Amino acid sequence: MSSFNSIEWKEGVLRLLDQRLLPHETRYLDYTDHGEVAQAIHDMVTRGAPAIGAAAAYGLALTAYHTQAPDAASLCTELAEAAETLRKSRPTAVNLFWAIERVMKRAADPALDSVQAIREAVIAEANAIYEEDVKTNKAIGYNALPLVPDKAKFLHHCNTGSLATVDYGTALGIIRIAHEEGKQVHAYLDETRPRLQGARLSAWELKQLNIPHTVIVDGASGHLMRTVGIDLCVVGCDRVAANGDTANKIGTYNLALAAHAHGVPFYVAAPTSTIDMSLKTGDEIPIEVRNPREVTHIGDCQITPDDTPVANFAFDVTPAKYITAIITEVGIAYPPYEDSLAELVVRVNPAPDFS
Ligand code: MRU
Repeated sequence: MSSFNSIEWKEGVLRLLDQRLLPHETRYLDYTDHGEVAQAIHDMVTRGAPAIGAAAAYGLALTAYHTQAPDAASLCTELAEAAETLRKSRPTAVNLFWAIERVMKRAADPALDSVQAIREAVIAEANAIYEEDVKTNKAIGYNALPLVPDKAKFLHHCNTGSLATVDYGTALGIIRIAHEEGKQVHAYLDETRPRLQGARLSAWELKQLNIPHTVIVDGASGHLMRTVGIDLCVVGCDRVAANGDTANKIGTYNLALAAHAHGVPFYVAAPTSTIDMSLKTGDEIPIEVRNPREVTHIGDCQITPDDTPVANFAFDVTPAKYITAIITEVGIAYPPYEDSLAELVVRVNPAPDFS
């Protein structure tokens, strides 16, 4: 396990590691209200698709824990309102919606006929999401091992490690597990403009794990592939459509194009909770547009002229044709993804047996 907890639940308090301050300061913030949690997700106190999902689940757990509702029906109404607030916090990572639906479905069990029963069930479901996430991430890492050559030179985008999840991470988890399993690895980390998750967060995590790494500017990936030689790119994802089109941190698409041009395998690490089979293609994935200040400023320092127009797309969609494989906790999907993803997802949610 990591030396820090990105997310921690303790008796009615959700504690989040404030990722905005890393790597300079390790500060934890405590939350007791779902509205504050929604704001924290929006402000990126916590970020990364699986971490957002777990935080939202605990946002609902806070509502259930602190409720003054006189009966089960009133608590269900409170939970529905809290869910609505949490759903509005960030649009792209489907894990947010997945986790909220999962907790709400549990709360709606007609067998739960008292406030106490719903309270316990909601907290238990949030805890289950939390615990499963670590197992899922480790399984992704082990499933990926055969794809990692010894002395592998990885290229990684954004932060997909223990900070972006409950622990271990997805794409960064692949690098971590390869290292733990004795493969010599070197990770080149895209700095990931504008919020620098690669330079600030991935470098912070790999430093603590003693995994050799080098931070590069986002525009250097093609040069690196042509000169140093990259063996494989590994990235995370915020939403994968049924055809394999993948939304991830802005810049992922450019990286995939560079990898394609150089014949470098491009792998997406995807917990099945990030696969949205309700969307046929990536064109349907909502792309978050964030505050221009993230682009015009680095910290408090303005880097553009006053009033410079800015387009701050937080994510892009990489078309499935540029993705070599999608690595999940239940196996590896290869093209055509319409078939392989459908087959993997059924392993997690088997169709009801009517025989
Ligand atoms: O805006 P962020 O930092 O939440 O974006 C994070 C990413 O794009 C990650 O690659 C993705 O959420 C996967 S995290 C395991």
